[in-house]
Amino acid sequence: QDGRYEAEQPPAACDGTVDTNHSGYSGTGFCNTPNTLGAAVAFTFNAPQAGTATIEIGYANGGSDTRPADVQVNGSTVRSAVGFANTGAWNAWSANTVTVPVNAGANTVRVVATTASGLVNVDYLDV
Ligand code: GCU
Repeated sequence: QDGRYEAEQPPAACDGTVDTNHSGYSGTGFCNTPNTLGAAVAFTFNAPQAGTATIEIGYANGGSDTRPADVQVNGSTVRSAVGFANTGAWNAWSANTVTVPVNAGANTVRVVATTASGLVNVDYLDV
């Protein structure tokens, strides 16, 4: 089932704070995780059938470097160290498109920081 899943809204789970201090986000806020290795945000959605899904992860990165993150689906890492490039400012939002395997029914996509810089600010997942 296609749609947008906001990082600040259950069933998403933000391992951090839901912030609103950088404008331009979708929904009512965005997920700001700690600047630590393993910082994560998780999204749950239903897929009509098993196969692949093209997901878009909305984010902003006003830091100085690309921040990498693993993309896990249902507990397995399916993309390693996906680069979330600098967007120029914390209020400049972009999206990373990733194709991932999915099961029929519920799927959990977890985005997990692979460096001590932590995650970028994550806004939403589009499926
Ligand atoms: C700044 C910014 C935060 C961001 C953080 C980071 O503090 O205001 O929104 O999360 O940098 O480096 O991750």
